[in-house]
Amino acid sequence: MKRVLTGLQPSGSLTIGNYVGAIKQMVKYQDEYESFLFVADMHAITVPQDPKELSKNIKNLIAIYLACGIDPKKNTIFIQSENLYHANVSWILECLTPYGELGRMTQFKDKSQKHQNFSAGLLTYPVLMASDILLYDADFVPTGQDQKQHVELARNIAERVNKKYGSVFKLPEPLIPEDGAKIMDLVDPTKKMSKSSENIKGTIFILDDEKTIRKKIASATTDSQMIVKFDLENKPGISNLINIYASFTGMSIKDIENKYKDTNYGIFKTEVADVVVNTLIPIQKRYNELINSKEIDEILDSGRDITMKIAKEKYILLKEKVGLHR
Ligand code: TYM
Repeated sequence: MKRVLTGLQPSGSLTIGNYVGAIKQMVKYQDEYESFLFVADMHAITVPQDPKELSKNIKNLIAIYLACGIDPKKNTIFIQSENLYHANVSWILECLTPYGELGRMTQFKDKSQKHQNFSAGLLTYPVLMASDILLYDADFVPTGQDQKQHVELARNIAERVNKKYGSVFKLPEPLIPEDGAKIMDLVDPTKKMSKSSENIKGTIFILDDEKTIRKKIASATTDSQMIVKFDLENKPGISNLINIYASFTGMSIKDIENKYKDTNYGIFKTEVADVVVNTLIPIQKRYNELINSKEIDEILDSGRDITMKIAKEKYILLKEKVGLHR
């Protein structure tokens, strides 16, 4: 059976971008593939974090996964930092990755500008991500568009290692959703919607209440044309709302354009808000039921034990190939 694997950072509240880019895809693929889903907590500390907040967010993220429909019977769910092999493999792969290749990563270029005195971890971040993927021989990695370059790097690293040392890693492929690969900011629709955006009016969080969601969508930036038409270049705001609608309903962009061709932006925005609210409110209800349940610890203990066994084998194979043995 083919394997899918993905991880999300527990840095702050999750957005609807994280939901459609990663979690919703995992819910879809869990019946088809052997699935691994983890909390990328070591990635989160590449930028400053408040320790108390971080540890709270780690567990909350598991409750979000479950509330969104991730079935713990169909997924191995774990915390990255609880599996020591991720960092070990990452070190070996860092030593096999040219410095220049990491400096060219788009996300590094963006984030290193935002953080003065950024950490070395921000640069080596994609190699840790490659380890996350390659340790488990993942065939597919469901992510949003912004992580595609990192999955491709993981593939390049795997190819390089296999060429040098013989077959060690499987070559992974990114799985990018057709709609919702890049949900944009509601206030500035030329920017990706992000957890860490300065203006929270542009971001819909999975746990935003109904009133807030409706308000944010009602005041989303559009244009003066009043035509519900997908045109990224000239109508980025409306295109983003169409994209959100498509990714929440599964409707095609053409069908959405047809459905709303004789309406106005006010009506369209209300209906975009309806589909988002109708999806998120039940998730929030389940989240509140799950957040303090014992089940989460049981799931994580089991996930840690299962993944430690798999990862250990791969680590030993790599370490021996490289010559790190007596
Ligand atoms: P992170 O935590 O930034 O984002 C988690 C997932 O959400 C997707 N995403 C989006 N999708 C659509 N529109 C958006 N506006 C949007 N914003 C975020 C991301 O593409 C991602 O899929 N490095 C990763 C975490 C990671 C990982 C891994 C992922 C660590 N190791 C191994 C896959 C495999 C990250 O920071 O994602």
